[in-house]
Amino acid sequence: MRVFVTGASGWIGSATVDELLAAGHEVTGLARSDASAAALMAKGVHVRRGDLDDLASIRAGAEAAEAVIHLANKHDFTNPAASAAAERAAVQTIGDALAGTNRPFLLAAGVAGLTRGRPATEDDVSPFHGPDSPRGGSENLALEFVDRSVHAVSLRFAPTVPGTGDHGFIAVIAAVAREKGVSGYPGDGTNRWAAVHRSDAARMVALGLAKAPAGARLHAVAEEGVPTRDIAEAIGRAFSLPVTSIAPDDVQGHFGWIGTFFGMDLAAMSTATRELLGWAPTGPTLIEDLDAGAYSARTPM
Ligand SMILES: NC(=O)c1ccc[n+]([C@@H]2O[C@H](COP(=O)([O-])OP(=O)(O)OC[C@H]3O[C@@H](n4cnc5c(N)ncnc54)[C@H](OP(=O)(O)O)[C@@H]3O)[C@@H](O)[C@H]2O)c1
Repeated sequence: MRVFVTGASGWIGSATVDELLAAGHEVTGLARSDASAAALMAKGVHVRRGDLDDLASIRAGAEAAEAVIHLANKHDFTNPAASAAAERAAVQTIGDALAGTNRPFLLAAGVAGLTRGRPATEDDVSPFHGPDSPRGGSENLALEFVDRSVHAVSLRFAPTVPGTGDHGFIAVIAAVAREKGVSGYPGDGTNRWAAVHRSDAARMVALGLAKAPAGARLHAVAEEGVPTRDIAEAIGRAFSLPVTSIAPDDVQGHFGWIGTFFGMDLAAMSTATRELLGWAPTGPTLIEDLDAGAYSARTPM
């Protein structure tokens, strides 16, 4: 299949591209810089130059493809409204380009805010609608395109997708710990984060492209929930730092923007996804990765 991938140079995207190439797909990646374009070309990926704000390029990439996997995101956590607006515009553009074709359109999503007090499942419909909601309500926007004959599928990634060189949320939390000289956890540290190793996440995306029905919500989740206290203790071991509780009222001040997420319970299950795709995660756990030094590169997003 000719697959157009946005975010093909990113953390999840580059591993996904490897899985797609191994499965025999022809991949075109959106690249916004010479460095990203070169990295893609080096592994045999066609390059479409463009930015997330360059909707004409995204539209042309989608129209030329037999499937689209949308993984790019601005990730401006100091200006989430700008990231959300770009995300929504890109999803609208891809959906419009694919309308009436029944072609697959897989898009990245998350598990934050889906449920309260229990792990999220694939049956939990996102409560986020409209441009002012988290991620611009892009999951629901994309899934609404099923009614316009688009084979839309949501890829809900765990809040941490670890692996050596990860620059995501755990790297940011580790950077805060190094800066403050203490590895903190919110409150009693019993709130949990789901996790999935990058290799397993990428394999799930490729399987999702091959097998998921239109309208599916897939959970890239290997570990249902790792207590934030365990995460902080592993960061403390990795960087030889003391570990301490941060009072709930101080979480935002101590952690900055990442405190919003670290203070949340982001547990999620993937029973339905495993059954649907025949997917069985095999990668190391988050704590195993932290203990093995996967975050020693010190390059947070
Ligand atoms: N990693 C996680 O823990 C996690 C958890 C839940 C959801 N997600 C979601 O999964 C998706 C992939 O995440 P990731 O961890 O792979 O992110 P990432 O490593 O930060 O990669 C982001 C990708 O988007 C591209 N990009 C950024 N700004 C762009 C712009 N203005 N125009 C065009 N491309 C742009 C980047 O290109 P360059 O390489 O040129 O910078 C890169 O390819 C995102 O939607 C993310 O929010 C990730």
